[in-house]
Amino acid sequence: MPMNPAKLSVLFCAAVSILVCVCIYLVTKTKMPVARGWSFDCARCGDYPDELCSALFDGKSVAAVLGAQCEQVHRQRPGLAAGLPVNCSRLLVDYSYITKPLSQEEADFPLAYILVVHKNLETLEWLFRAIYMPQNVYCIHVDQKTPVEFRQAVEGLAACFDNVFLASRAENVVYGGFSRLQADLNCMQDLVSSSVPWKYALNLCGQDYPLKSNRELVQHLKQRWKDKNITPGILQPDHIKQRTTHVHREVISQFESYVVKTSRRKTGSVPHGLKLYFGSAYYAVTREFVNFVLKDERAKDLLQWSRDTYSPDEHYWVTLNRISDAPGADPNAEWEGSIRSIKWLDQAKVAHKGCKGHYVRGICVYGLGDLEWLVQSKGLFANKFEADNHPLVAQCMERWLRRKTLFRSEVPIQQEWHIQNNKCFFDIEGNNCSTTSM
Ligand SMILES: *[C@@H]1O[C@H](CO)[C@@H](O)[C@H](O)[C@H]1NC(C)=O
Repeated sequence: MPMNPAKLSVLFCAAVSILVCVCIYLVTKTKMPVARGWSFDCARCGDYPDELCSALFDGKSVAAVLGAQCEQVHRQRPGLAAGLPVNCSRLLVDYSYITKPLSQEEADFPLAYILVVHKNLETLEWLFRAIYMPQNVYCIHVDQKTPVEFRQAVEGLAACFDNVFLASRAENVVYGGFSRLQADLNCMQDLVSSSVPWKYALNLCGQDYPLKSNRELVQHLKQRWKDKNITPGILQPDHIKQRTTHVHREVISQFESYVVKTSRRKTGSVPHGLKLYFGSAYYAVTREFVNFVLKDERAKDLLQWSRDTYSPDEHYWVTLNRISDAPGADPNAEWEGSIRSIKWLDQAKVAHKGCKGHYVRGICVYGLGDLEWLVQSKGLFANKFEADNHPLVAQCMERWLRRKTLFRSEVPIQQEWHIQNNKCFFDIEGNNCSTTSM
């Protein structure tokens, strides 16, 4: 049945109007007006103004929706790309590295960091520039099985600083395996011979991020802990006893590595009659304690005994720190110390209101809706972050932490130390964007 011309033109008009509406929608969507009268071009800018972050920290849900749209746009900044040489002077300025101790108190209390990493350069660099201070020392353990380009990029980063080095021995780290513990110990071996007079050692993985500035951390350790170690944990509960009653084995293949529990029971009791504890694999421990870990017979024997146990990093540190004559030991401590803020899946609705990002192995990877919870948490650090998947979370955290860090500086603040606003990082593809810092 043929259509008459009048019907056809009505249809044509309708089609054109729909098209126009879609175009208007798309254009306004990318240039979305934000409260307070400024507009924010999220299609063009990889960096975000403070107002947007503040709204998210205040838990504003509209802002979260807006943020989620802006978050879709993300480009990697140039500077630390695998396979490219690092221009150190440019890296320091572009990424706002702090290049002087910000107070005498911090200069007098250097920290040693152990970073165990295996992937995601961008998240690592984001974490690193947050914890970097020139008076501290950093040992980065790069997994043996990571691609050579990743290792080279980390080496390039480390080469920009006198106080950063890669662990002299690299393990093939298996999740839940002894190798995870050994990686920390390799760094400890290197750190005890460092000329930096560090007071405490702290370990991090590549998906942690600080919730305290260096100054806050130093004061917390000095005032609250006073030469004591932080190793949250309790006597080994029954339901995880099979971790140490049975022989476990690391299985390493080209494609995946994991730990298997064998049916064989472990022979021999815990050396020196030590009582096993269970707790956090994360710690803050004094230099004297690290010396004890590396030299004391009980520590060495417990280490050997732990080789075929499951996730020994969750019993080793806490067990040693409950020995009454270990330096800085805290024999009666339990879970106190809040060394990590983590949203565990099995604690949802009890300890927190759920994860607004997504869960990985029962742990929340933070999304925009978690920012309010994060800045109110009491932990020294939080876990887990994926800066590449949640770039706006990363940028807001960075701004928040840097503001706290510079706020109490006792030295004149250099312009480069401020996280830049409206800085265009899109020149990676040769787009000629102007760089305007505020
Ligand atoms: C590194 O970057 C700085 C500042 O952008 C520039 O002046 C210098 O020429 C660069 N050096 C090299 C070796 O490319």
